[in-house]
Parts: sequence; structure tokens; C-alpha cells
Amino acid sequence: MGTEYKNMSKSTNNPHATSKDMVGRTEELADLWNVFQKVVNERNPYLVTLIGNPGIGKTRIVTEFLSKAREEKPEVRILRGICQPEGRTYSVFTRILKTRFGIFEGLPTEKIQEQFRRELSDALGDRRVTEFLHFLGSFVDVKFPENPFLRTMEAHPEQFDEIRKMVLKRFFEVDAERAPIILTFEDLQYAAEESLDLIKFLAENIEKSSIMIVCVTTSEIFIRRPAWFEGPKNHTRIDVGPLSKLNSERLLMHLLSQFEDLPDELVNVVTNLSGGNPMFLEQIVRILKENKTIVQDENGKWLLHLDKLKSLKLPLSVEEAVQVRIGALTTYERTILERALCMGGVFWLGGLVALDRIDKPVPEIWGGTDETTHIIREYLDSLVTRDYIMPIPDSTLPGDEEYAFKHNLEREMIRRMANPKTLEKYHAHLAEWLEFKLTEKGEEQLELIASHLKEGGNPQKAGLYYFSAGNMARDRYAHKKAIGLYEKALECLGELDAVLRIELHHNLGDVYQAAGNFQKAVENFVKMKELAYRLDSLSKSGAAHNRIGRVYREAGRLDEALRYLGTGLALFQLAHDDRGVASSLDDIGKVHWLKGAYPIALNQMMEALTIRQRIGDLRSIALSYNNIGLVKQDSGNYEEAIAYFTESLRLRREISDIPGIIVSLNNLGTVYEDKGEHEKAITVWSEALDEAKRIDDRLRQTFLLTNIGVTQYQIGKYEDSVKTLTQANIFAKELGDRVLIGETERALGKAYMLMGEHQKAREHLRVAIETFEKLRSKVHVGIALRTLAEETAEGGWGEEDERKAEEIYKQSLRLLEEVGNELEIARTLRSYAKFIAKQGRVQEAEQMALKAKAIFTKLKVSTEKIEEKQQGRLSSPKIYEMDVPIEEPQSAISESGKETV
Ligand SMILES: Nc1ncnc2c1ncn2[C@@H]1O[C@H](COP(=O)(O)OP(=O)(O)OP(=O)(O)O)[C@@H](O)[C@H]1O
Ligand SMILES: [Mg+2]
Repeated sequence: MGTEYKNMSKSTNNPHATSKDMVGRTEELADLWNVFQKVVNERNPYLVTLIGNPGIGKTRIVTEFLSKAREEKPEVRILRGICQPEGRTYSVFTRILKTRFGIFEGLPTEKIQEQFRRELSDALGDRRVTEFLHFLGSFVDVKFPENPFLRTMEAHPEQFDEIRKMVLKRFFEVDAERAPIILTFEDLQYAAEESLDLIKFLAENIEKSSIMIVCVTTSEIFIRRPAWFEGPKNHTRIDVGPLSKLNSERLLMHLLSQFEDLPDELVNVVTNLSGGNPMFLEQIVRILKENKTIVQDENGKWLLHLDKLKSLKLPLSVEEAVQVRIGALTTYERTILERALCMGGVFWLGGLVALDRIDKPVPEIWGGTDETTHIIREYLDSLVTRDYIMPIPDSTLPGDEEYAFKHNLEREMIRRMANPKTLEKYHAHLAEWLEFKLTEKGEEQLELIASHLKEGGNPQKAGLYYFSAGNMARDRYAHKKAIGLYEKALECLGELDAVLRIELHHNLGDVYQAAGNFQKAVENFVKMKELAYRLDSLSKSGAAHNRIGRVYREAGRLDEALRYLGTGLALFQLAHDDRGVASSLDDIGKVHWLKGAYPIALNQMMEALTIRQRIGDLRSIALSYNNIGLVKQDSGNYEEAIAYFTESLRLRREISDIPGIIVSLNNLGTVYEDKGEHEKAITVWSEALDEAKRIDDRLRQTFLLTNIGVTQYQIGKYEDSVKTLTQANIFAKELGDRVLIGETERALGKAYMLMGEHQKAREHLRVAIETFEKLRSKVHVGIALRTLAEETAEGGWGEEDERKAEEIYKQSLRLLEEVGNELEIARTLRSYAKFIAKQGRVQEAEQMALKAKAIFTKLKVSTEKIEEKQQGRLSSPKIYEMDVPIEEPQSAISESGKETV
């Protein structure tokens, strides 16, 4: 036997070449082509997702389809994107847009700006370029100097992401007016959450345009997005399965086209083994060449070693084939690839050079370059030729060369086979390399560095970076993102760094509270309290108690609130923390106000204001003004109340405190309402509602909707009112806020009563009273009882109901007198008087009406105005005032040295 090679040589092609010719896949291509035809002919957007195992040939199908599209419709614009694991949030869009605008790295900034502006103006025609420049620029890291438009945007950072999605969609629509566009997103299973959302958003929202979106993924997408295929009707799914036996044979013949005729044995072994997976098939052929089963002799002739084929142990699965491929790498090549994969889906020559220097002796003189770069580049070239990796034009890292793994399976296998300790070392070094390399550190950059720090065995610093990224997200009101980042920080820290964890729980509690999740908020403040106790920090502990007290107050658990706030006050006093003392006093004042104890409330709040004026912090002075305004209003001093609210609004505008502006506007509206100036009130509230929608603040939207809804029924717009209030009620239930649930139920009851729908009215009122009784808020129960009395009187026909109504009026009066809420007393008296008058008890009724009028006069309420506007209707209810704690307890933050990294 010996050297029994069979000569089958035909040519001497590159032995590593992959098949140039496509085999099979006619159905898949036809499906794609049909969709493309529809896109072109209907001018409608369509989404296609190809799904199939690694290496099965998805990319190949797409490539084939795209070249056919280009051939038959040369004007079509093709933008290809590949999603990378551990990439930045929108990196796939960055790549696509850079290609679209012809932005190449290495150009000077002004050239890039110029190029971008030119391309964009060209695409947009006579449309306004400013917004597009700014928002699309943010995807490709192109910044433009400030302009007035941007300055107004800066005030609303929370809107930024929403707007830039809209702008991107609009851009594609405009761009597709000239020629159809095909966008491809490969390896979707690796895409960042935000990119997945954006792809879906585009597919669902693009209007009337010739845009085809092609996604390519393995079945892993089902783990990340089980509902990926649900939703838009214009979504086509293409399952890519194995090649048929015949097509596998054809592929093999293409791959070994150097041979004139292939022995059946070889064909059978290889095609059976491959199971129709073309990547596997290619791997097997490579292995046969590498282990010299197929060789080229000195004359360039191709020979097959049949014996060897029989005795050879070939891989039985794709995984095994991949392992054999990796086994064929030299040690240094493997090291390079291990370092590369630590950078993520794509990697950079510069990063490899930096990692190569970890254990190298430092040269005595270093002029900025050395041999390493060239050596590594040569290795990379060889890996490219052997199909392990591929170069990527236009690096995302300025001034560096970018590459990507060719086969995801190989990358994952190399990771699994590597020594974890070694990878950890690389991650640690990469974190530091990026810290230098990334000069501008936004949320995404911080998150990227944090992930390397974590993998690199530095959880404490990783925690700090996640914390900073979380703060950035919080500052733009991206609650969900902030929560995710803070949770990651806590996960990294474990038992480490109690001081940082105090800050984390504090901020996390805050964000949860802002998002309306009271339970999670309390959980975090309690953790903060426990840590403060262990560290014996009086003022941190004070801040934690305060925070818990506030959550309870917001949830209407007033006694618990007082207990925590009182403890907080004592702790701040012990710590000589003036800011803390002031905020505690103010918070306690607010609880008393909610309970209806106005003089005590005012006392505490004035004391807080004095301290705050001494400190001179505008934000908290504005808060004091607002709160005092509320108490003034409730005790009937409307002009004073207006003055306080206006002053707080002015200060808040000065410091662009949007939540604060909403609160001040709302409260101003309520005074107008109390004064009977309904239209003015609605105007002010609508202004506030717009602001609340802008920062996606559900809680305040609920307050405002309730107020607007109540006023709508007062001026006779019943249907509008029910609509507005129902929305408010839904929000309130979602938030689980008992005061708001009660208030919206009561208001709905009243609206239905005025519409004459008594059954519905009573149902809502009963729920309202039950809710308020659980809250033990006498004012609220008193008001709700009055409404129920009105309803009972209105809807009843017999003596029984009249007796009941009278009893309920008395109950309402008793409760309101207990808390001394004069305005509400007057309102109940007036309503009661009307009821009595109807019964013919004229004298009694007149006396009662006079009593009410006297109170109104004393409170300077323009009764005439109210009466005139409410001809034939019942008395105005108490409008719900807004008292949402918005200010930081300054002490919790200001002492920390960890605000920035
Ligand atoms: N129908 C085909 N005809 C010829 N060669 C093919 C065919 N399908 C795939 N190949 C080849 O098989 C290899 C793997 O295919 P491809 O990269 O398209 O797989 P994939 O499904 O995109 O894999 P991954 O999930 O790793 O992205 C490539 O070298 C490709 O050229
Ligand atoms: Mg692919």
C-alpha cells in the first residue's frame, strides 16, 4: 500500500477556497424575492426573518439575494449590519448609518461633519436639516456645534431617545423615496435590547415606503424575544433547514472541484457526516486537507489517500469539527483569538497589541511603535485566509483596524476551551485600555468598561462604573435603564463597599418610587437604613428613615409615615444636619396637612423655610414655598396661596426643575379652581400635563387628569369628564396609590350622578369611601360622604332615601369639623342647605346657607361666581392637590464623594 494516492488533479486552485457557487436554496430565495417585489411595487415596508442553526447557510442566502437585487435593480440601496455580542447599544445602527453616509474613520472631524451634512442635505432636499443632523449624528458619533434648537432639547433629555427613533424612521422613509432600501441585520441573537426594539419599531412604524428589513438569527432569538414573530402583519418567517443530500454532494464537488471525479466513498462519508450543514461540510474538507488525506504533490497534482480516509477518525458533529479546527491553530494564533474574543464580537488590532504587552519586558526607549503591530497583523492575515476571521472596513474605534470572527461557533468554542483565569487577566487589561482609549464616556462607554472590570475580577470598580452609568440614565429619566444598571452594580458589589451600596439603594429606591413601585422603593430604603445603622451614620440613617416615611405618606399610611419622619428628624438633629432637619420638618408638616391639622402643619413648614433660606438652596426654598402655599390654600387664604405658588414656579423655572414646575402649575390650577375660575384652571393643568407626559411621569399625569376631569364635569362636559377620569382611574390602579384610587372613584361617582346614571354613581362612591376609610383620612371621607349624600338625595324617591341622605350629610359635617377644614365645611353646608330647601324646610335651609356664605366670605371665595357657574348643579368638590416629594434630601447625596467617577 504505502503511498497509494489517487491522482485526480484538475487544477491548482487555492486549497482553502470556499465554494464560489451556491447550491440549492431556490425556495428560500424565491420567498425573499417575492417580498422584495412587494416592497418595490406596493411601496410598503416588509420585514423578513431568516432563522436556522449556526453554519446552515443563512448569510449565504442573504448574500445571494442581495446580489440578485443589485443586478436587477441597480438603484437599490443596500445597508448591511451585523449585530455583535457585547456591542454598544446601537452599534449595528452606527455601522449601517456610517456606510450610508460614507463616513470613514481616519478622516478629520471637520471633513466628517462636512461629508455628513452634504449627504444629508442631498437626501433631504428642501426639508429642515437641523434635527436630522443632530439626532442622526448621535448614532454615528458626529457632533455639531450648539444651536437654539438643541438648547431647548437639552432641557428635555428624557425625550431624546424617543425623538431620535422617530427621526431615524423619518430619514429612512425620505431616503426610500428615491430608491428602495434593503436593511439587513445579521446575528440578531446578539443584538442589544435597544437595537432589537429599534428594529421592531422601524418595522412597525415605517409608513408607505419601499423598505425591506431582513433579519438573520439562530433560534436563540426565542430565548431573548419569545414574541419576535408576533406583531406586525408584514413579517415573513423563513426557516433555513439542512441542504438535501443531492445539494450536499454538489457542494462537495464544488469544494473539491480540483478533482475530476470524486470517489463515491469520499462523497458518502462526507455528505452523511455533514447532515446537510454546509459549514460542517466545509470544515470536514479542510480537515481532510490539513491531515493530508487530500494532498498536492510536488508537480501540483491533487491526490486522495484512500486508506487514510478509511482509518481516519472524522468529527461526528459540528461541534467536534469546530474543535478539530481549533486544534489546528498554533499556540500563538489561539492566544490571539482568545484575546480577540474578550473584546466581543468585533475586535481591534490596537487591543491585541495592548494585550500582547501585558507580560512583555518594557523597552528602555519606546518611540511609540514596535514590531508587535506588524507581527500581529501578519498573523491576522493568515487567520483571514484560513477563514477564521474577517477584516471589517471602517473601524468603530477611531484609528484602529477592526476584525470579526467568521464563525460564531468557533468563537464560542475557543472561549469554552480557554483558561478562565487567562481571560480574566485580558478583561482586566482591556478595561484599562478602554479607559484611556474612550475619551468621551457616556452611559454606554461606562457600561462597556464596567463589564470588562467585572469579567476582569474587579467587581468593586465595576460596581462604581455601573453606578455612574445608572446616574446618567436616571438624569435623563430613563427609569428602566437606570434600574437595570443599579441592579448590576449591586450584583457586582455583593458584600463589598457598604458606603457605595448606601448610595445605590438610595438612588434605586428613588427611581423605583418615581416609577411608582412603592414596594421596591421601601425595600431599598430599608436596606439603606440597615447599612447606615451598621456604619453608625446618623445622617444616612436619617435620610433612610425620611425616605421610608415619604413612601408611606404617598401610600396614604400617615401614622407610619409620622413615625419614620419623626425618627428621621431626631437623627438629623443629632447629626447637626441642617438640610436634613429642614426636609424632615417639611415632610412632617405635609403629613399634618394631609390630616387636616393646618396650624401645626404651617408651623413646621415655616420653620423649615427659615432654615432653608439660611442655607440658600433654591431648589428646597421653592419646595417650601409650594408646601406653604398648599396649607394657605386649604385654610382659605387664596391670594397668599397664589403668591407662594407663583414664587415657587418662578424659582423652579430658573433652575429648570421639570417635576417641580409640574407641581407648582398644578397647585396654582387648584387655587383657581377653588376660586371658581375653571377655564383658567384647566389651561394651567393642561400645560402641566404636557410636561408630565414629556418626562413620562405617570403619577403626576394621574393627578392632573383627575383634576381636569373634575373640572370638566363642573362646567358640564360630562362625557369628556368620564373619559378623562376613567384614564386617571386606570393609572391610579396601576400605581396602586390608594388616595388616587379613592379620589378618581369619587370623581367618577359624581360625574355619573350628574349624568343621571345613579346605579354607576353609587358603585363608584361606595368604593371611594371604603378606600378612604382604610386610609383613615377624615377630610377625604368627609368629602366622599358629601358626594354620597348628594347622590342619595338625587337618586332617591322615597322617605327612606331622604332620611339616609340627611344622616350622611351629618356624618360628613362631623368629620370635617373634627379636622377643621372650613372650606369643605362650607361646601357641605351649602349642599345640605339645598337638600333641606327641596324638602320645604325653608327657614332651616336659609340659616344653613347663610352660615356657608359667611365662611365663603371669610375665605374670600367668590361665591357668586361659583353659584352663577353652577346654576342648577351641586356644589363643587374638593380638588385633589398635588403633594409629591420631589426634592432630594440633600444630605443623602451631598456628603457622598462618589457622585462621579
Ligand atoms: N447553499 C450553499 N451553497 C454553497 N455554499 C454554502 C451554501 N450555504 C452555505 N454555504 C457555505 O457554508 C458556510 C457557512 O454558511 P453561512 O455563513 O451562510 O452560515 P450561517 O447560517 O450564516 O452561519 P452563522 O449562524 O454562523 O452565521 C459558508 O462558507 C458558506 O459560503
Ligand atoms: Mg451568518
